[in-house]
Amino acid sequence: MKPWTMMETSQTPTDGGAVSLHRRGKEYSIRIDGQELMNSRRHGSEEELARLACQAVADRADCRVLIGGLGMGYTLAAALKHLDSTGTAVVAELIPAVVRWNQNYIGHLADKPLEDERAAVIQGDVAQTIQKSRQAFDAILLDVDNGPEGLTQKENDRLYQPEGLEEARKALRPGGVLAVWSAAKDSRFSKRLKAAGFQVDVHKVRAHLGKGSRHFIWIAKKK
Ligand SMILES: C[S@@+](CC[C@H](N)C(=O)[O-])C[C@H]1O[C@@H](n2cnc3c(N)ncnc32)[C@H](O)[C@@H]1O
Repeated sequence: MKPWTMMETSQTPTDGGAVSLHRRGKEYSIRIDGQELMNSRRHGSEEELARLACQAVADRADCRVLIGGLGMGYTLAAALKHLDSTGTAVVAELIPAVVRWNQNYIGHLADKPLEDERAAVIQGDVAQTIQKSRQAFDAILLDVDNGPEGLTQKENDRLYQPEGLEEARKALRPGGVLAVWSAAKDSRFSKRLKAAGFQVDVHKVRAHLGKGSRHFIWIAKKK
């Protein structure tokens, strides 16, 4: 098997951790402090996140979707696929280098979703975009980490805690959905979502093309 080569490194703006882009043949990997955050070989559950969330709201005219975490762009590309020509998707990405890598090296993996005129990118913390938005989005999709518990960046914890969920609820339009990706099951998170005023469905999905690890997606509808 070919060895991995490191293409570029940068730092996370929050704690200065090392974020790096690696390549092995056609396969790419984004890592934080050596821990893999995203791999181009498995993106089925990231696409399911978009399908499940957008299906719930895509019949709305001028549907507005916010995505937390660009990664390799698979969730963004899938959201655009499920939205019509009046829909828009804004993606907030914390690490400037990740946006640059999508523009320069890995955009082809998900068919260059940043070039779609319905897409926009904000460089920054999705928590801040949520906080300053009121009844602005039909869906908010969060795939910023390994899930509500498996955090590579501890600052992301607040997104999944009661205050963060309340902010997300306020940022959603009536009947809008908060969709959350996770590598692990978490019944306490389901309880927090219900307590925050959401109607909750948890979907078990496979990592890729019906195979591989099981991942979890919460579709939480604002009551
Ligand atoms: C697992 S990857 C997302 C994968 C993506 N769903 C895809 O389809 O490729 C997580 C991404 O979220 C970004 N991120 C982490 N915390 C964030 C935050 N608070 N706000 C915005 N982006 C964040 C990371 O830099 C990384 O690009």
